[in-house]
Amino acid sequence: MRIIIRDTAQEASRLAASQIITSLPTNGRLGVATGSTPLALYGFLREAHAAGEFTLEGCSAWALDEYVQIPEDHPERYRNVLLNELVENGGTGLAADDLHTPDGAAEDPEQAARDYESQIAPGVDVQILGLGSNGHIGFNEPAGSLSSRTHVGHLTPTTRSDNARFFGNDIDAVPSLCITQGLATIMSAREIVLLAFGEGKAEAIAQIVEGGVAQRWPGSILQHHENVTVYVDEAAASRLDLADYYKTLN
Ligand code: GLP
Repeated sequence: MRIIIRDTAQEASRLAASQIITSLPTNGRLGVATGSTPLALYGFLREAHAAGEFTLEGCSAWALDEYVQIPEDHPERYRNVLLNELVENGGTGLAADDLHTPDGAAEDPEQAARDYESQIAPGVDVQILGLGSNGHIGFNEPAGSLSSRTHVGHLTPTTRSDNARFFGNDIDAVPSLCITQGLATIMSAREIVLLAFGEGKAEAIAQIVEGGVAQRWPGSILQHHENVTVYVDEAAASRLDLADYYKTLN
């Protein structure tokens, strides 16, 4: 893993955006995350698009996950979040039809998960990831298989509580089921860019970067990927034993 530590989330997000702009091939496939963490990065991609330096025209974008049975017009439905970030508000050149998200409204979510898995194969060119405070990536919660493919998952109380802020601070309003790419699906990406900011992510970052590979901290599977860059601010890096060493490398 390459660990990039910057004073602020803004600086780290700007660098992450540059990496994506450089790495994504023409007509490439970009894996996109939701949550609050990548929002600044998406802002930089829209800016680069407005400046004529970058476009997702001709590319496709693939969401990590989606809530099951969330109303179609709910602002937190991940398809709506991603349309808002990548297609609307000036956009990034991405066409709405080229944004792929698991079908959380499907009558048979298990089948929808299998369909999504076959559509995304053989994996994206560049995958953007956030990180849950419990170490999840996508919605792969602790104790799930490290070899999982796209599946229906149950959110932990920690994740529902973390995400309640998007649902009027009402934990009961947070869906408890999701469709998520599995860890093996995420690992099939050619290149991975993970972002984590703030003290609330410090333990998860220390565990996935410097701990053992274990189901308890799902993001730790990334230690087995050959091209992962982790962008953190000082707060998220605060529990890394080797932070000073990583800083000498960049
Ligand atoms: C969410 C998403 C993840 C995201 C994570 C962190 O629930 N499913 O893809 O990375 O949790 O969210 P945030 O960036 O808001 O801290």
